[in-house]
Amino acid sequence: MKIVFFESKSYDIDVFEPKLKDTDICYKFYDTRLDEDSAVLAKGADAVCVFVNDVVNRKVIDILSQLGVKIIALRCAGFNNVDYKYASSKGIMVARVPAYSPYAVAEHAMALLMTSTRKIHKAYIRTRDFNFSLQGLTGFDLYGKTVGVIGTGKIGKIFINICKGFGMNVIAYDKFPSEGLDITYKTLDEVYRESDIISFHCPLTEDSLHMFNFGTLGKIKPGAVIINTSRGALIDADALLEGIKTKKIGAACLDVYEEEASYFYEDMSQSIIDDDTLSRLISMPNVIVTSHQAFLTKEALENIATTTIDNINKLYAGEECANIVT
Ligand code: NAI
Repeated sequence: MKIVFFESKSYDIDVFEPKLKDTDICYKFYDTRLDEDSAVLAKGADAVCVFVNDVVNRKVIDILSQLGVKIIALRCAGFNNVDYKYASSKGIMVARVPAYSPYAVAEHAMALLMTSTRKIHKAYIRTRDFNFSLQGLTGFDLYGKTVGVIGTGKIGKIFINICKGFGMNVIAYDKFPSEGLDITYKTLDEVYRESDIISFHCPLTEDSLHMFNFGTLGKIKPGAVIINTSRGALIDADALLEGIKTKKIGAACLDVYEEEASYFYEDMSQSIIDDDTLSRLISMPNVIVTSHQAFLTKEALENIATTTIDNINKLYAGEECANIVT
């Protein structure tokens, strides 16, 4: 069996290679992202292994199908970038890693929130320059604040527990609420209206695309903090920028961005960034952007590699695979 890895970085290779090198599986790692131009690199492969920003649309699937690829293995939880229904119609199986460390993502969301509310990112830069002034660094207590959690699955639930540990009042919205849990569910509008902090933890689907939009700005509390560690397109980035510029939004903590595929995971420090919205957001003192790194812990990478290889082995052998995307 041969697996071709796309968008593979050193931290991917470090965990996958030791698990593959003493097996019968052939493998090739490419740094390049899978798209219509690079799909030919899958020639001879039975499986391609892709990540969040690889493009797996109909055209790419057609090429993979012609090349004889039988398995698309996502080494992530979200699968919004894969046209899995079309893949299935072409006889290509799609699998993902539904849970590798929900703690990694939930903890990153809290790290972003605390960095933002206590201005740690500003203080770090100041003290490195021996500027010990506290001017402009006033934050606010999380204790007693209302956090609205959108999506109460694996990550959302852990984030809720973390917030409860801080003494925060938690409310939540989920399209499919969990039963029997100590979670106060509200409508999406109520969550928008009542929350001091809003954190997104639901998948990107046709339903959830731009669930935060220009209309949302009229609903949220002035000064609300927005956290998105889920998928960029849950939020209309232009609406977010408008909210920041008009000071309706108090701060934004973003691990994901609607148009991140052209920039995230690459060193763009020597490039001119074409995306004015991203540039403007990054220039704001109350916006923190991380480059889709919430998953990036040792524990998560280890689980991703183990589960991905197991998924591929099972699908290749024609065995039942619980992580197939249907
Ligand atoms: P999950 O499947 O356990 O939970 C998702 C929850 O969202 C479910 O309770 C579901 O009912 C709810 N939901 C579905 N559609 C919704 C809608 N339209 N509105 C509100 N709620 C809706 O997923 P998990 O593991 O908690 O992951 C959540 C998301 O986090 C993933 O879909 C992925 O996009 C993102 N993620 C981001 C990572 C990062 O590195 N930044 C890493 C891993 C996941």
